[in-house]
Amino acid sequence: MQSVVRPESMARITTPELANAFIEEQVAKVRAQVGDKKVLLALSGGVDSSVVAALLIKAIGKQLVCVHVNHGLMRKGESEQVIEVFGKELDANLIYIDATDRYLDLLKDVADPETKRKIIGNEFIKIFDEEAKKLEGISFLAQGTIYPDIIESKGVKAHHNVGGLPEEMKMELVEPVALLYKDEVRVVGEALGLPHAMVYRQPFPGPGLGVRCLGAITRDRLHALREADAILREEFDNCGLAEKVWQYFIAIPDVKSVGVKDGKRYEGWPAIIRAVNTKDAMTATIEEIPYSVLHHITDRITHEVEGINRVLLDLTPKPIGTIEWE
Ligand code: XMP
Repeated sequence: MQSVVRPESMARITTPELANAFIEEQVAKVRAQVGDKKVLLALSGGVDSSVVAALLIKAIGKQLVCVHVNHGLMRKGESEQVIEVFGKELDANLIYIDATDRYLDLLKDVADPETKRKIIGNEFIKIFDEEAKKLEGISFLAQGTIYPDIIESKGVKAHHNVGGLPEEMKMELVEPVALLYKDEVRVVGEALGLPHAMVYRQPFPGPGLGVRCLGAITRDRLHALREADAILREEFDNCGLAEKVWQYFIAIPDVKSVGVKDGKRYEGWPAIIRAVNTKDAMTATIEEIPYSVLHHITDRITHEVEGINRVLLDLTPKPIGTIEWE
């Protein structure tokens, strides 16, 4: 990560015109920095790495090599979207690695949250390193560092950056959005033509659904979580809550309760809805969700998702509850 300071004189990028001017400037800068050399980028599908990818594709085309590691803990449809947008529409040089089995085997029976995080973070570094070694002539490493990362790395939130890259990867960095705030990255992303849903996607932790499938992850509970989360997102989109709520998701604890389905005993997990508003994720408040929406979501999740027999709503602000459950 570069240690740079945003000049006071730098105007906030709020319009497509300002975004286009920024893009032009960065395209020229990247071309001058990189020349005819190759650049490697870990493309998670999050806002920052996606915008950097689109910007670099514009600047240097196939000299950019994107690596997307699917750790099997992505939300429904996310890896598919990366392949669709970058692999197909933008015709990027994209290496897709489905590491689902590798991750889930390593995480088997691991219940401790911090150990889970460490395994997920370390495995990413290993896989990325393995891929980098297979490639020839890579001189630069691109990163989706944004300005708050630079500020926060000096402060309290550094523990969240589990997706760090190997120390020994001593390549020169290309960080074209390092001086931008998140809202500016989004304006630039739209100006680059990325889909709205990708650019305005809610924050998603690096360890993904791994920290929401509480305790030791099993494939069946992870599958139920992914499906329930997809229903929640769809219904929030339908009723306009997606625009109003900063982060919303499902967590599923490793607990079963008794239920009844088709006249028979049906043991299942509870799906816990968490929907919070915040500015900086340090504190959070609870968004009111209309009961009609909650009933509809409950109905869909309990009928459509195998293994879930209850839906609960988490009403706890932060503090005292953190946003994630683990
Ligand atoms: P907490 O749970 O600490 O979450 O209130 C605050 C914000 O950070 C996200 N989060 C993470 N992001 N790796 C990440 O990249 C993590 O391990 C992680 N844990 C929490 C969380 O989703 C929320 O937006």
